[in-house]
Amino acid sequence: MEHFAVIQSIVRAGLAGDPEAVDKQVLRLRERLEKAGATKEAATLERLRAAARDTQELAPSRVEMSRGHISGEVLEQGVNPPIDRETGARLCTVDFPGRNGRAPVYGAVVSETVEGLLREWASEAALQEVGVSPTRSLLIYGPPGSGKTITAHYIAVRLGLPLVVARIDGLISSFLGTTARNIANLFDFANRYACVLLLDEFDALAKLRDDPQEIGEIKRVVNTLLQNLDQRHNFGITIAITNHDRLLDPAVWRRFETHLQLGEPDEPARESLIARFLQPLEPPASTLRVFSYCLAGCTGADIERVCTAVKRTLALSGESHDGPGLFHALSSVLARAPQHDHVAARILAVDQEAFISLIANDGTLSLKQTEIGEATGYGQSRVSDLKKAKRHLPLLEASHAQ
Ligand SMILES: Nc1ncnc2c1ncn2[C@@H]1O[C@H](COP(=O)(O)OP(=O)(O)O)[C@@H](O)[C@H]1O
Ligand SMILES: [Mg+2]
Repeated sequence: MEHFAVIQSIVRAGLAGDPEAVDKQVLRLRERLEKAGATKEAATLERLRAAARDTQELAPSRVEMSRGHISGEVLEQGVNPPIDRETGARLCTVDFPGRNGRAPVYGAVVSETVEGLLREWASEAALQEVGVSPTRSLLIYGPPGSGKTITAHYIAVRLGLPLVVARIDGLISSFLGTTARNIANLFDFANRYACVLLLDEFDALAKLRDDPQEIGEIKRVVNTLLQNLDQRHNFGITIAITNHDRLLDPAVWRRFETHLQLGEPDEPARESLIARFLQPLEPPASTLRVFSYCLAGCTGADIERVCTAVKRTLALSGESHDGPGLFHALSSVLARAPQHDHVAARILAVDQEAFISLIANDGTLSLKQTEIGEATGYGQSRVSDLKKAKRHLPLLEASHAQ
């Protein structure tokens, strides 16, 4: 029997009452199924994992012990963050991320990196035995809307630490001499307390080096930043975020021990995101497949936007909250948006029947005619006719000709 070894590992972990190990093995099974082309089953497993993560409280129980090892005073609500002396602008804000948020949805590789980092903090003693310490610096990069900021917040929640969020606009003073001082003050503040220092939109600072104007001063600013980053290593955890990894100087890049690339979610992650963002609706699996098919190449934030618009449209349409209602709402949301990356979305935006012909003919989607019916409201014989007529071909050709 195929995949029996993994199933056996799942059973073993389950019986031993080790949910983390169960999750890891389920992830393995999901990857194998995906490789074997069983995308539907893989997506189902991913949905189950996501649902389990959602219900699991975000309390940092498993990593609580790490707190003691991150030096610094306890940062209380109400502590005043440092300010720019000339303008009075705040150099950072302090966030106490709530525990009731939900874990972001990740593909296998990202999930492994994030959980691995958290595991390091939970097993500091084991690491020390071999002379290493947990990762203290992380650089997250990827396109806008790929979940970078929420990932930093999630890590802080799991570590049970507040976030000191640098305000890059506050830091960069029109007086460059002041910028260097601001950076130093910011790091002094962050190093004093047990916290995660978050440098969001980090490229704004780090790319200064290439600015042809005032080159000498700018170099000084960047060097201050690099020195502070190096010293910070003895204190807390630093997470930097950038949309444009190529703008970062290799010297900055090297400062970070772990690099985490976020991007567009893969098929199973997309379905989990769609299911999450369509809540409280509980669409059938076939609807999730159809949505996911149209939203290939979208970021998490794009998916959220589309799902919210679909719910608004559905609520106003008076249609039933089932597959067909959602299908019509998706079609009108796509029709209103100016452009789409994916050809399926472009076709659904203009012609629902052509879209049905497209999905009925697409072997990779492997939706049965009954499932297409459930997701769209078209009767089986109509689906079958549309499939035979290949209604989508002219649109597909037109789309490719563009
Ligand atoms: N992987 C993901 N899991 C869950 N939600 C996501 C994910 N990626 C994006 N989102 C949604 O998109 C929104 C924007 O994410 P954010 O972290 O601000 O993106 P970025 O910082 O990369 O621009 C979030 O509020 C969240 O609702
Ligand atoms: Mg962001």
